[in-house]
Amino acid sequence: MRTRHREPQTLGEGTLHRMARILAARNIDPGAAPVQEPETVSPLEALSAGMPPRYRAAVADHPQVLAWVRTVAEAAVAPNQGARRQIATGPSLLMAGVVGAGKTHQAYGAVRKLVQSGVGVRWRATTAADLYADLRPRPGADSERELAAVSRCPLLIIDDLGAAKASEWVEEVTYRLINRRYNYELPTLITTNLAIRDLRSHLGDRVASRLAQMTTRVEFEQVDRRRHRLAA
Ligand SMILES: Nc1ncnc2c1ncn2[C@@H]1O[C@H](COP(=O)(O)OP(=O)(O)OP(=O)(O)O)[C@@H](O)[C@H]1O
Ligand SMILES: [Mg+2]
Repeated sequence: MRTRHREPQTLGEGTLHRMARILAARNIDPGAAPVQEPETVSPLEALSAGMPPRYRAAVADHPQVLAWVRTVAEAAVAPNQGARRQIATGPSLLMAGVVGAGKTHQAYGAVRKLVQSGVGVRWRATTAADLYADLRPRPGADSERELAAVSRCPLLIIDDLGAAKASEWVEEVTYRLINRRYNYELPTLITTNLAIRDLRSHLGDRVASRLAQMTTRVEFEQVDRRRHRLAA
């Protein structure tokens, strides 16, 4: 979904007079009206507010993830002169590992690092299962529009690819999503518990082939950090 930027609006004289009349009728001195200072929220604070609490403070430290952040940040371009550079095209990562290895942590950490590097980041995160649920055709929902929005989002986290039940429909939707991101070279962070050959049997050759080309595979240590923490 594209964010629409509105031009600042100038109030006409008629409007100003009307406002002055309203304030006078209420015995309010416009000069004394308290000025509301806009709260200063840093881009990182704004970003954190939109993240699930568990990953709000996630710090990416995997060397391949850090290299990806640098590449995507370097490829960022300003939409017009003087504007902040925004994510453009770039490579993608396929973060593979056992349950609890820290894949999702690295994915959110990568988004935080990008924002910290000063790049404007329009992003979305979804588990594959939630995405399929959102895209199921149902009355009152515009699934095509939703698919287009997710497909075009400059940076997308697809968490737990391959964890949802396979079906022809799942294969087709995943193909349409991945194919769009593949064609437009949009950076995508994918996490999965599956090996590439299992992804192939789960999602089909077309998806697996595109993923093989568009992503760098990031392997994680075979440790479930959730249990490790409990045992410590
Ligand atoms: N580098 C890290 N430093 C501190 N905590 C971490 C780190 N990586 C992961 N964790 C914590 O370990 C737990 C498991 O991490 P995470 O949820 O990222 O695993 P995952 O690989 O995505 O697992 P799953 O495949 O089940 O989704 C989480 O509580 C997370 O906050
Ligand atoms: Mg995860």
